[in-house]
Amino acid sequence: MVSTACPQATEIGVSILRSGGNAMDAAIATGFALAVTYPAAGNIGGGGFLLSRRSDGTITFIDFREKAPAAASEGMYLDEGGNVIGNASTLGHMSAGVPGTVRGLYEAWKVHGSRPWEELVAPAVELARGGFPISEELSQSLMRLEKHGAAFPALAIFRHENGAPLGPGEMLVQGALAKTLEMIASDGPDSFYEGTIASLMVEEMRRGGGLITHEDLRNYRAVLREPVKGVYRGFDIISAPPPSSGGVVLLEILNMLEGFDLASAGPLSSRAVHWMVEAEKRAYRDRATYLGDPDFIDMPVARLISKEYAGRLRSDMSEMSTPSSSLSQAPFDPESEETTHYSIIDGAGNVVAVTVTLNDSYGSKVIVGGAGFLLNNEMDDFSIKPGEPNIYGLTGGTANAIRPGKRMLSSMAPTIVLRGQKPFIVLGTPGGSTIITTVAQLIVDIIDFGMDPAEAVSAPRFHHQWLPDLIYYENDALPDSILGDLRRRGHDLRERDPIGDAQVIMIREDRCGASDPRGGGRSLGSN
Ligand code: GLY
Repeated sequence: MVSTACPQATEIGVSILRSGGNAMDAAIATGFALAVTYPAAGNIGGGGFLLSRRSDGTITFIDFREKAPAAASEGMYLDEGGNVIGNASTLGHMSAGVPGTVRGLYEAWKVHGSRPWEELVAPAVELARGGFPISEELSQSLMRLEKHGAAFPALAIFRHENGAPLGPGEMLVQGALAKTLEMIASDGPDSFYEGTIASLMVEEMRRGGGLITHEDLRNYRAVLREPVKGVYRGFDIISAPPPSSGGVVLLEILNMLEGFDLASAGPLSSRAVHWMVEAEKRAYRDRATYLGDPDFIDMPVARLISKEYAGRLRSDMSEMSTPSSSLSQAPFDPESEETTHYSIIDGAGNVVAVTVTLNDSYGSKVIVGGAGFLLNNEMDDFSIKPGEPNIYGLTGGTANAIRPGKRMLSSMAPTIVLRGQKPFIVLGTPGGSTIITTVAQLIVDIIDFGMDPAEAVSAPRFHHQWLPDLIYYENDALPDSILGDLRRRGHDLRERDPIGDAQVIMIREDRCGASDPRGGGRSLGSN
């Protein structure tokens, strides 16, 4: 079974499973397919995290997060007066980190691929060369991209030759991307990091004043890391370690929630929402204070994810809201929500959860000339100005300050839940800082409230991230009576647009997948 944000990518993953490939093979093919069919977030010019568990119990976590170029520096997005330069870290060549996806997927293939590499990239080459019909969702997303067309003329690849936007049902053909993928298929990642594609990226950087060099690309490595592990009500939780905050914050939240009887409170009851947001604000305070790239800073991860620490955090919770300002001064930066996740299980019980991103929708908006792919704007996930309020009035932490060669902190949380040492749930979502609270809510919905995946992905969502001190809730998610009770407890609330686009597979007597109704994705079994 394969669950992704894009039906064509799901079908490619399933076709790999049907032709005898395993879950890792399907994950690699799906990842490349998303780079063609889901250009807002699927990518070869960005990065991500892959978590897999083989049927023999071997767990692998691959970190292919982007890195700051060697020429990056702490003050690179500040003017002479020390003020943040608008858009510098979010738009254009300077906002791009060194991409990791191609090395990451190749590392995945070396670890557990069973089909020839070329065979796994080939479906994406075909999709790029032959084109595919644009969905309603992609058409709307391309319309939103239009406002950047004047500043980034290369975005014309997403339009007709006469400049009119491509509409639903029309074919998106990406010839340059097809050639790039063909090189990756035949020559492996070296073509991207040392060969023709690397040269095209460096030329693009020279044209636009970006920092990525041949040396940055040659030096990029995907890293195998130990995922973080914990137990929630007897279920084993395995998730992303730093440089993602995803797994640490998820385990902190779940550990705190274990002390409350959520099942009796009921889903979306004011008691359950109150306890969940109280746990969330404490965990997000720690995210901002402690977490960053493990290759650069020491972090008290074992303490943060311990039951003993959760007990201490729980001990100052009451029936009333704890103001975020009283939870100490640690800072938090806003994050883009445009990312994509996919979940896969094969017939042997191997499971893979992958979350990838360009950061913002369509990343930096820079398309590498002659290579046809978008570069990320992941540099904005660093704290651009540690210790001082940024352009949003929020403050960034030193743990996540920019350093040459450092990975920026992420919230991505590809997660596997085990029951009795067997895979039970494979899940993840996009959503920037809301990724972690969505994954926590999905786990609680399934484990505490007994929902099936379709109910869990459809359930209304809410989110608290410590700063600002607000419960965000989806339009109409919470009835007036619950809102009133939460206000009486001292919470401020703000309605917002939909949160996330989760892809969940649950393994019971059957396999049961669900793609979030908030997106245009698809969950499909191979038989
Ligand atoms: N760029 C979103 C994340 O990594 O969390």
